Amino acid sequence: MRTSIGIPLVAAAVMVSSLLASPGQAGELTRGEMLSASCSGCHGTDGKSPGAIPDISGKSADYIRTSLEDFRSGQRDSTVMGRHAKGYTDEEIRLIAEYFERQK
Ligand code: HEC
Repeated sequence: MRTSIGIPLVAAAVMVSSLLASPGQAGELTRGEMLSASCSGCHGTDGKSPGAIPDISGKSADYIRTSLEDFRSGQRDSTVMGRHAKGYTDEEIRLIAEYFERQK
């Protein structure tokens, strides 16, 4: 009885600690994913839009980055994206764009 409860607990503890310890590149991936969460409210989970807002999943990183920079500078007209894009640095835009490119 004791071991049948003990072993899953140990396995769960190992899984949690390996999730918490994700250094190097995994940290950067996580940051792009984290930043992208603020887009999901409108563009859908992972950019897969279910409604009228454009689907941005799997679009090229170049396309997403250029779009965000143009919205931010006002070069491209928008209703909400101009205001939203102003909150991000060049580095953050790059991470967000790379994240959505991977969401095929
Ligand atoms: C408040 C809702 C909202 C949020 C939040 C939002 N968007 Fe948008 N997005 C829009 C709308 C609406 C458009 C159409 C352009 C416009 O009117 O602003 C758009 C357009 C775009 C486009 C152009 C799509 C195309 O087909 O050309 C891209 C790229 C984009 N958004 C990326 C993002 C990213 C990345 C984020 C998060 C950093 C984000 N958006 C957050 C509503 C939103």
